[in-house]
Amino acid sequence: MATTTLAAPVLAPNDLLTGAEWSPAHTRELLAITADIKANPASYADTLRGKFLALIFEKPSLRTRVTFEVGIQSMGGHVVFLDHTQARLGERESIADVARNLERWVQGIVARVYEQRVLDEMAATTEIPVVNALSDKFHPCQALADFFTLEEKFGNLKGLKLAYVGDGNNVCHSLMYLAARLGVTLRIATPENYAPDADVTADSRRVAKETKAKIELFADPREAVEDVQAVYTDSWTSMGFEAEEKVRKEVFKPYQVNRKLMALAGRDSVFMHCLPAHRGYEVTNEILDGSRSVVLDQSENRMYVQKAILHTLYR
Ligand code: CP
Ligand code: NVA
Repeated sequence: MATTTLAAPVLAPNDLLTGAEWSPAHTRELLAITADIKANPASYADTLRGKFLALIFEKPSLRTRVTFEVGIQSMGGHVVFLDHTQARLGERESIADVARNLERWVQGIVARVYEQRVLDEMAATTEIPVVNALSDKFHPCQALADFFTLEEKFGNLKGLKLAYVGDGNNVCHSLMYLAARLGVTLRIATPENYAPDADVTADSRRVAKETKAKIELFADPREAVEDVQAVYTDSWTSMGFEAEEKVRKEVFKPYQVNRKLMALAGRDSVFMHCLPAHRGYEVTNEILDGSRSVVLDQSENRMYVQKAILHTLYR
């Protein structure tokens, strides 16, 4: 499945903040390590022996929290969970002060935050690895698990076509960065005012030139899904944007993934969603629970990919 050899480590950055800090070679290597961890978990049982990681969450989570907690402990490490859902980071003391203190006690920070700049500041302040567990702008752990899932299903990512339908949000941005690094064609359909960030689009397209990936933007979801191997959607209202929910429910109506839209995708195409799903809004029950849905494989693979991320950050 994976083509990169495990024998030749590619030099990696110290943090995972967006997904853009990784080269195409390192991204490929990470998927190969993920496959090895999934097949041989016992070989990685000591990777984090004696290490403590702080998990800081400003927003709710099921998948990310559980997969990091279980994954870290299955590699011999320990977790300190800091629930910041009631008080934003930076309120009681500055972000830099929090990070500088944590660095004296723990060997890494995994954080889910409202603002990407909080992660950037933590990474700039400390020497220990900082991993983005979702921000307003990016969700790299999710996108890596998604491409690993696609590689499992289709054997090879090069030339694969994935459509993303809905909001040009954090998940969409990370899919863009990683599609560009993995040689995938990503066809994104959003309403006019909800297109992905122009800088992320330009950066992804720059990398895509090297890997023969394509990052294409559409307004019409029917055009985007034509002939693709996978159709992906996410919530129309991400955490932190709740005040816009009423407007968004109207604007995104034509972007629902349902039987009619899936019929335009490739014959053996799969349906993807990072979850949690809002049944009857961005996706119908029939598609979410149907035989083409791989959403639970995506969830399961979060753990393996995150173990691989930590493996590369601490080797
Ligand atoms: N997909 C995802 O990150 O799920 P949680 O919000 O439950 O962590
Ligand atoms: N885009 C969603 C993803 C949830 C995992 C959000 O940020 O709420």
